[in-house]
Amino acid sequence: MGDVVTDKDKEYEAQEASQAPGADQPMHDRTNNRTLRPRSDAFREFMTTGWDNQEPDIKPLESSTYIPARLEALGSQFPGERLVIPAGQPKVRNNDDDYAFRPDSVFSYYTGLGQDYEAGAVLVLNPISADDPEAKSGATHHAELFVPPRADNSTEDYYANAHYGEYWVGPRAGLKELHAMTGLETHDIAQLADAIGKDVGAEAGAVRVRAIRQADPEVTGMVEAARQANGFADPGDNAAEDDKLLEYASEARLVKDSFEINEMRKAIAATKKGFDRILARLPEAVGKPRSERMLEGAFNAVAREEGNTVGYDTIIASGKDAPILHWMRNTGVVGDGELLLIDAGVEVESLYTADISRTFPVNGTFTPLQRKLYQTVLDSQQAGFEAAQPGATYSDIHHACMRVIAERLHDWGILPVDVEESLSPEGQQHRRWIACGVAHHLGLDVHDCAQARYESYQGAKITPGMIFTIEPGLYFAQNDLLLPPELRGIGIRIEDDVLMTEHGPEWLSAGIPKQIEDVEQWIQQQSSARTR
Ligand code: GLY
Ligand code: MN
Ligand code: MN
Repeated sequence: MGDVVTDKDKEYEAQEASQAPGADQPMHDRTNNRTLRPRSDAFREFMTTGWDNQEPDIKPLESSTYIPARLEALGSQFPGERLVIPAGQPKVRNNDDDYAFRPDSVFSYYTGLGQDYEAGAVLVLNPISADDPEAKSGATHHAELFVPPRADNSTEDYYANAHYGEYWVGPRAGLKELHAMTGLETHDIAQLADAIGKDVGAEAGAVRVRAIRQADPEVTGMVEAARQANGFADPGDNAAEDDKLLEYASEARLVKDSFEINEMRKAIAATKKGFDRILARLPEAVGKPRSERMLEGAFNAVAREEGNTVGYDTIIASGKDAPILHWMRNTGVVGDGELLLIDAGVEVESLYTADISRTFPVNGTFTPLQRKLYQTVLDSQQAGFEAAQPGATYSDIHHACMRVIAERLHDWGILPVDVEESLSPEGQQHRRWIACGVAHHLGLDVHDCAQARYESYQGAKITPGMIFTIEPGLYFAQNDLLLPPELRGIGIRIEDDVLMTEHGPEWLSAGIPKQIEDVEQWIQQQSSARTR
């Protein structure tokens, strides 16, 4: 039966049409044209009465005890300056559909907030004067968190605002809740522009402002307006000042505190479960069209069950897809007898992510050739691990991994020059088969601390508290005419997450099997777990 349209319906539609904005309606308003929104006073009154209160659970977050030290370290770098750190806005997927919101990582680090409910929030560190009582204890700044208030059932936004209204999105944390969760003083976001612009000036005693400018263009606009109006007229200079803040915030995360280390352990444990789920699904996937997607779905389901989501797009690459470095289409067939390369990580609710790669023989047993290649990558990774002693640099890890790869390629008659020539800066021929890097910092971002300076990252000494990957590989493309045919269409990567401790490096992901016999046993265990 079709819908019955009554005269009343027609009357309602006619009334809507009479209120319609017409041809000069701005484009950005037009997404509302697809629904008939009730606008009557009777409806408004009806919708703001008769609801029971839904109070969100408001406990202090475990991260909240770590925030004061992080903020103090940040403030000490920028005395007398106002620092503006936005969470960012939801990104539009299309029209009025957004991607799931993920706050900017700098905001997360300095507020301890993860999850998705603080879109639009802004952390402001206000400089305090020397005679302020807080300054006696060494503080340089006072932190304030500006947030959209709750649109609970006492407000019209409750049902009318699809972004924040709790009728649409469920109970949110507002000022009271976010204060309880973070320990930070909270204010209504409506006061942000005044708070940013207050006392700004170039003269002695006035306040300078810096912002994490990439996070929220609207907030950057407010900051820029305050600067332009108060003696900071050069946008290039202002952007350069902002970049220094971003650089510091990136470098501050190079060494993790104990909360972060614990979150990384959780992310890795969840990622292990994701790999378990993949292996349990593997027998069913073999030979099926788009079966890489079946395995992607298995992992991603665990990421949602155990954590926030995946930390980056999952790579599931079998056979000829495996040597494609960023194969994320995952549309291929998981073929019997092939090697299956998987690079995947769960991001937990606090937004810390693991980054793990494993390579599996699809039918459960490595062939002699597959073993030889796999063992090479394993040996390369172990060499990188042994090079990663406290005081070594990232470059040391890189060179140790690469030496093993170059030597084996030479032994197999593939390298067109000798090992030393290839390893020299003028050579590097071995990189044809491993063009990517083999180590990076890991934490809130999969490529964490990416705005750090070279001398703080690649050229820096590795110190206790740093978490990083070691992830060599061999990528033998299907169309590589310089390889013997039997090697073409094979990709291997082994990637683990490492914590530097006082006593040396620790494999954080030691619980995820990678030795040849252990991998074969793991595949067997999981496939029988599925059939039990
Ligand atoms: N999954 C990205 C990387 O390994 O760096
Ligand atoms: Mn990685
Ligand atoms: Mn990876």
